[in-house]
Amino acid sequence: ARGVRRCEASLASDYTKASEVADLDWENLGFGIVQTDYMYITKCGQDGNFSEGEMIPFGPIALNPSSGVLNYGQGLFEGLKAYRTTDDSILLFRPEENALRMRIGAERMCMPAPSVEQFVDAVKQTVLANKRWVPPTGKGSLYIRPLLMGSGAVLGLAPAPEYTFIIFVSPVGNYFKEGLAPINLIVEDKFHRATPGGTGSVKTIGNYASVLMAQKIAKEKGYSDVLYLDAVHKKYLEEVSSCNIFVVKGNVISTPAVKGTILPGITRKSIIDVALSKGFQVEERLVSVDELLEADEVFCTGTAVVVVEYAGNKGVGVVSQQLYTSLTSLQMGQAEDWLGWTVQL
Ligand code: COI
Repeated sequence: ARGVRRCEASLASDYTKASEVADLDWENLGFGIVQTDYMYITKCGQDGNFSEGEMIPFGPIALNPSSGVLNYGQGLFEGLKAYRTTDDSILLFRPEENALRMRIGAERMCMPAPSVEQFVDAVKQTVLANKRWVPPTGKGSLYIRPLLMGSGAVLGLAPAPEYTFIIFVSPVGNYFKEGLAPINLIVEDKFHRATPGGTGSVKTIGNYASVLMAQKIAKEKGYSDVLYLDAVHKKYLEEVSSCNIFVVKGNVISTPAVKGTILPGITRKSIIDVALSKGFQVEERLVSVDELLEADEVFCTGTAVVVVEYAGNKGVGVVSQQLYTSLTSLQMGQAEDWLGWTVQL
């Protein structure tokens, strides 16, 4: 049972069966939680050293009602994906980038974080232990959700005395119900996602709770999601609740610069490199909301959404499609990984 430590006998024997593909309706995967077999867990105290983790059955965890995460939102998450290739191996996409981002976020949230090596190793173990849940090629991916939280008890506002790092996984298909068809976004003029000096650039759990209201209202009006503007000028594009945004005009692709209020997406960064390699000019700068009206195409990027086109009035997004195909064929092992971004399990 490679990759699974300290398993009970019954788990270990289950795990040997894990090479088979699970019995699931692979044709109709959305972005919902599917109960998988195992999750990774490790804890650390005030010394900041996480113990060697272990794989345990996927399920509820016990948390002190006074824990830092439950009371004061001291928590961070990550998201990455594993794909099954046609020759039945499993590929991860740039997992060390997620590990680094978690470390940066943890510093902002006054939390210790696992080392890059422990993070990547834990991701590999969790995926291998749940291998049967990695969708068949072309049917989706295994979404990997690392979570870091202040699990120790506090009452006064202070960093928690103990932290828990967990990784669970779930097979997923398309994030938006539109699938690969264009989505509709509403430009938000009342709520803001982040402010200068806040936590908009890290994947802290509170950033996602705070956008639920605007998202709910948008969905009630028939939109897929919300596009946020900057909180100071109320004029420049920031990001969508769950992804970064790009505007295409001719050969120039523009995206809001990462300056503290938007998430430095790993898909964002990868798409910039792919676009540059295809001869596009990429500008990271302030992008005014007015530019949306003049754009040839608008698209969003994120681990969960991958690359999704925004429904403008100009028809099919040729550039968005080209970049989507280039990135996903790399992630799925169907194109040469000339940038060394994939990790084979
Ligand atoms: C991701 O794209 O992985 C995210 O973390 C966004 C989340 C809201 C699904």
